[in-house]
Amino acid sequence: MIVESAPVDESTVILAIETSCDETAAALLMGSGDVLSSVVSSQVDLHARFGGVVPEIASRTHLEQLNPVIAQAIVEAGIDETRIDAVAATVGPGLIGALLVGVCAAKALALTWEVPFVGVNHMEAHLYAALLEDPTLEFPLVVALVSGGHTMLVEMQGHGRYRLLGQTIDDAAGEAFDKVARFLGLGYPGGPAIDDVATRGDPEAIAFPRAMRNEGLDFSFSGLKTSVINHVRKHPDVGTADVAASFQAAVVDVLVTKARRAAALVGAKGVALGGGVAANSRLRAELRAACEDDGIRCFLPSRAMCTDNAAMIASAAWYRLRSDGPTPLDVGADPNLKLPLLP
Ligand code: KG4
Ligand code: ZN
Repeated sequence: MIVESAPVDESTVILAIETSCDETAAALLMGSGDVLSSVVSSQVDLHARFGGVVPEIASRTHLEQLNPVIAQAIVEAGIDETRIDAVAATVGPGLIGALLVGVCAAKALALTWEVPFVGVNHMEAHLYAALLEDPTLEFPLVVALVSGGHTMLVEMQGHGRYRLLGQTIDDAAGEAFDKVARFLGLGYPGGPAIDDVATRGDPEAIAFPRAMRNEGLDFSFSGLKTSVINHVRKHPDVGTADVAASFQAAVVDVLVTKARRAAALVGAKGVALGGGVAANSRLRAELRAACEDDGIRCFLPSRAMCTDNAAMIASAAWYRLRSDGPTPLDVGADPNLKLPLLP
C-alpha cells in the first residue's frame, strides 16, 4: 500500500530516522530547511573499547534508543504528531541490522499515522547536509564526502542530479585516520585523536607519500598507512605528535588538491565538505584557503551536520518526496545502496 502524499511544500513536516551505523537519530523538518528538532544519541563510547563499530551492539542499541529518541524529537519540535506529513528513514548504505531497526520503525509509524514513507539514501543525505545549513549555496557544487566509510568527490548539478568525479580505490580517509591512530595507540575514533595530537607536532617533520596527488580525481590511502607503520618501526624514537601531524598533512594535501582540481574541472561555484573527516581542523583551514585563492565559495558545515544525523535525512527526504513521491513499503534496507548518479 502506498499512502498518497499531499502536495509537498514549505509547510510539509517530515519525521526522519537515521540508524545506518552507530548514531541513533531522529529529526523533524518543516519544508526544505526548517529544522524543528534534531536528536542524536551516539553509541561511540559503547564501541570504543572494541576499537571499531560492532554491528550486533549497534543494532541492539538502536532498538533500545530509537523510541526515546523519536519521542524526544517530537517533544522538542513542539508539535503534535498529527502534524507529521511523512516518515522517512535511511534505507542504505550501512550495516544491515542497524538499518533494519530504523526502516521497520519508520514504516510502522507511516502505516499507523496513514502518511507516506520515504526511503532515503544515506550518501545523498550527506550531500544535503551542506545545503540544509546554507541554502544560498549554488550549483554546480562540488561536495567532498569524507567519512569512515567513504571518500568521494561529487558534483551536485541540481537536486537529485549527481556526478561521481572521484573516489578512493582502497581505504576511506577516515579509515586511514582510525587505523593510523590505532597503530599509534591514540584510541578510537582516531580522527579527533590525531587532529588533537597533531597540534603539538610538525606537519613537515616526515615527508609521507601523497599517492596519486598529481593525477586524476581518485584517491588511495592504504599506502600512506603502510608508510606510517614502516617509518615508526624504522625510527622507534620518532615523536608521535610529528607522525600524527605529518600523516594528517599528507591526507589533507591530497584531499584539498583534488577537491580544487574537481571544482576547476566542472566550473563549480563552490566546494562543500561532508562526512566525519570534515571536522578535521587542518582540512577546514586548507580548503578555506584554497577556495579563497581560487575565488570560489567554501562551505564548512558545523560538526553536528558533518557527522551522522537525521536532519540531513529529512532534508533529502523532502526533495525526494517532492520529485518521486512516496516510497513503496516493500522497499527494503540495502547495505550496499549506491548514490543515484546521472547516466
Ligand atoms: O561520517 P562519520 O561520522 O561516520 C561514517 O563513517 O559514516 O565519520 C566518522 C569518521 C571516523 O573515521 C573518524 O575518525 C573521522 O570521521 N573523524 C575525523 C575527525 N573527526 C571524525 N577525522 C579527522 N579529523 C577529525 N577531527
Ligand atoms: Zn554517514
